[in-house]
Amino acid sequence: MIRTKYIAGNWKMHLTKRRASTLARDIVAAADSSDSAVKVAVFPTFVHLDHVRRNIRNSNVVLGAQNCYGKKEGAFTGEISPYMLRDMGVQVVMLGHSERRHIFGETDKMIFEKVKIALRAKIDVMLCVGETLEERQAGQTFEVLVRQLKVLKAVKPTQSSRITIAYEPVWAIGTGETATPQIAQEAHAECRRLVGKVLGDDAAQHIQILYGGSMKGSNAAELLSQPDVDGGLVGGASLTGDDFSPIINAARALS
Ligand code: 13P
Repeated sequence: MIRTKYIAGNWKMHLTKRRASTLARDIVAAADSSDSAVKVAVFPTFVHLDHVRRNIRNSNVVLGAQNCYGKKEGAFTGEISPYMLRDMGVQVVMLGHSERRHIFGETDKMIFEKVKIALRAKIDVMLCVGETLEERQAGQTFEVLVRQLKVLKAVKPTQSSRITIAYEPVWAIGTGETATPQIAQEAHAECRRLVGKVLGDDAAQHIQILYGGSMKGSNAAELLSQPDVDGGLVGGASLTGDDFSPIINAARALS
């Protein structure tokens, strides 16, 4: 099964309006020359979405948001509906990022509601999963993946092509410590098997599973060449064109 490589930049709570716009233009330059062999997406903060949208207009770069609320509208001060994101031109929303789970206390139940309504709002979903260091050391990695991927029960069979998974071991995020290609492959293969159990084998073969956790130009090729690693969800190394372009290029070389 040949799956298109997918490289996404999670800008987290970084950048100014001006720097976000410049970075978006740099990424358009790096991504567009890649023809359609590599899918590239950016996930700016909510307040930079519109600036970034203008700067990636007429390119293949996909516009993503880092989160949304699990309801369509209402008295939810400070929250953002996936319908509003859709209205802003957002194509994909990241849900269940470990920082949302561990800093903001999001539960699988909340993430389930978000996945359901985002798909209903016609936004694609990048569902993030991954174990903490304590869970890995206790041999619970697969157990965690089973639990977190049960959220896929929110997905109707006709919606399965609109889901992407990001496996992000918490101990590798922002730490400079990367999962070895073997560890990543093992977890990705398990994620694919679990996707198959919930959404069926066909969906499992087609779904793109991205690795996230200190991916950079120097380790991207090795990670991306694993059979079940279909791309990368990049944090720190997505914040400058100079850091992000080599990752896009590594994906292109493997396509
Ligand atoms: P780093 O690439 O900075 O480790 O972040 C990974 C991540 O959390 C992407 O969502």
